[in-house]
Amino acid sequence: MSLAGKTILVTGASSGIGYAISTRLLENDVNVLGLCRDTSKLPPGAQAIQCDLSDPVAIIAAFSNISKIDAIINNAGLALLSRISDGDPADWETMWRVNVHALTLCCQKALPLLSEDGQIINVSSMSGHRVPSSGGFYAPTKFAVRAVTDALRSELRTDGKITRVATVSPGFVDTPLLNHYFKGREDHLEKTKASMRMLTPDDIAASVLHILETPLHVEITDIQMRSSDQVG
Ligand SMILES: NC(=O)c1ccc[n+]([C@@H]2O[C@H](COP(=O)([O-])OP(=O)(O)OC[C@H]3O[C@@H](n4cnc5c(N)ncnc54)[C@H](OP(=O)(O)O)[C@@H]3O)[C@@H](O)[C@H]2O)c1
Repeated sequence: MSLAGKTILVTGASSGIGYAISTRLLENDVNVLGLCRDTSKLPPGAQAIQCDLSDPVAIIAAFSNISKIDAIINNAGLALLSRISDGDPADWETMWRVNVHALTLCCQKALPLLSEDGQIINVSSMSGHRVPSSGGFYAPTKFAVRAVTDALRSELRTDGKITRVATVSPGFVDTPLLNHYFKGREDHLEKTKASMRMLTPDDIAASVLHILETPLHVEITDIQMRSSDQVG
């Protein structure tokens, strides 16, 4: 299915995975709406939607200015190292707001704007499939992303709608997010990078394009992917 001429909203388009997805889409003549806080970092050609996803009022305002889209890639997210046993609850709230609540609200607000054959892709993580020993509250937010996606699919089918919904679940990807995930454990980050050829943001972008290009009778529900060097 050709993507040329379609309009696709990408959250977190200013960095890492979202930037790579947006770049690939632009190369395929897609009209990219790039949502983030720092719109100066969007790839050239993306239409800027400035929005702080931790603020539900700002999300509702941002969507009120969008008329029609063919797909939404809910990619924005953050990984603060915050343990359950002694982490700062403010960090849990920040992650929950952006990774889960904002993503859920973006799904809801996108539905009336999506074309009949629309597609929603939510970026989860391998940390949404198994809980790493040192990831703190990040994995709970990514398990929730998968649950939100599955709940939405059930609701859509119950309502007789064919909008397809998917998650993409990467292992380690070499992006700025890892600097937060490994904050205070920089030596561990260096060791992790030395031990594997990490996924690149473009590896994830290729899978997102694959989902978008599948025929309408095919629904990919989740793509789990990790470096072939990654243990666990
Ligand atoms: N890197 C990995 O190893 C990895 C693995 C699995 C899953 N993931 C997931 O992949 C997604 C993208 O992560 P990444 O690695 O590409 O991280 P990144 O390079 O740090 O990019 C994060 C993006 O999210 C946006 N964002 C963060 N907080 C926001 C807010 N409050 N409002 C609006 N936008 C916000 C940032 O834009 P602004 O700062 O401009 O707002 C940025 O564009 C996340 O959901 C992450 O959990 C990453």
